[in-house]
Amino acid sequence: MEGPKLDSAMAPGLAGEADNGLVDVGAAHRDSNVDDVLAELDSELVGLKPVKARIREIASLLLVARLREKMELSTERPTLHMSFTGHPGTGKTTVAMRMAKLLHHMGYVRRGHLVVATRDDLVGQYVGHTAPKTKEVLKRAMGGVLFIDEAYYLYRPENERDYGPEAIEILLQVMENQREDLVIILAGYKERMETFFQYNPGFHSRIAHHIDFPDYAPEELLAIAELMVGKQGYAFDEKSRQAFAEYLKLRIEQPHFANARSVRNAIDRIKLRQANRLVRDGGSIPKAELIRIDAADIHQSRVFQRGLHTECETPPARKERS
Ligand SMILES: Nc1ncnc2c1ncn2[C@@H]1O[C@H](COP(=O)(O)OP(=O)(O)OP(=O)(O)O)[C@@H](O)[C@H]1O
Ligand SMILES: [Mg+2]
Repeated sequence: MEGPKLDSAMAPGLAGEADNGLVDVGAAHRDSNVDDVLAELDSELVGLKPVKARIREIASLLLVARLREKMELSTERPTLHMSFTGHPGTGKTTVAMRMAKLLHHMGYVRRGHLVVATRDDLVGQYVGHTAPKTKEVLKRAMGGVLFIDEAYYLYRPENERDYGPEAIEILLQVMENQREDLVIILAGYKERMETFFQYNPGFHSRIAHHIDFPDYAPEELLAIAELMVGKQGYAFDEKSRQAFAEYLKLRIEQPHFANARSVRNAIDRIKLRQANRLVRDGGSIPKAELIRIDAADIHQSRVFQRGLHTECETPPARKERS
């Protein structure tokens, strides 16, 4: 079956003009504003080198596909569905948002929004409930990216009367037809996703790009912390930076560690302790003290107390389900 034509109208002026028979790749590149999105991705996200490189590649591929279409070399829309694998808190959702924006800039989706769904949004509990649920989510995601978190929960072979396969069937059809401007990204743990693909080869064959998100190194987590703290108008001093580096070393070894998400949660608790300290001490303080995080704000964490193993953090939902 031939796919739909690319809709150049979605990205007016994207492809470089070809009056003289030449294709202006540079102009098309500039017109697409791809570099803005990529620059934003670079500045907003620490590390993730291999992920950023893959996204750059995909952007080039899409740009060339657009030019080839302009030159009447191809009419089919390239397959855009993807899988994002990696541990919790490695940036999958954030990158998916950027990807939606990129696809929008390049004219592959009309709206460029991201809809995040899990099994519960797609699968019903009773006969006849699944198809309407799945279709409703698909409708909301049209013109953007549908991000299915922990996609493998759609498939539960141990449960005979599971309605997951109904949702899978509908998703596969939409992915195959590509009639709509909708891109589906399946996300989750790498190993589980691989097993899921083994049992559902239809998904595997419809996915063009598999991107793996590595865990962050401790230095990267510290850089992420600095970025988050700065964005919120706080700052470490030398001692508290050191304290946070020590905190990370311990936290990484503990259960439910979730990369950048744990860093974000830790910062929330640090802000709470800073506020407590300032209110407790009272008096007049310079503005800078409202910004500064003290080492004590970090050292009060349970992570530093021997014998106590978990920092007070809600474990990600997947941990409870597994
Ligand atoms: N490389 C990074 N640099 C800066 N901030 C980051 C980075 N990666 C993730 N974050 C931040 O960490 C938080 C968690 O990231 P995100 O939700 O994208 O991860 P995820 O892989 O989708 O996690 P989960 O599987 O738990 O949903 C977000 O607030 C995000 O902005
Ligand atoms: Mg996520």
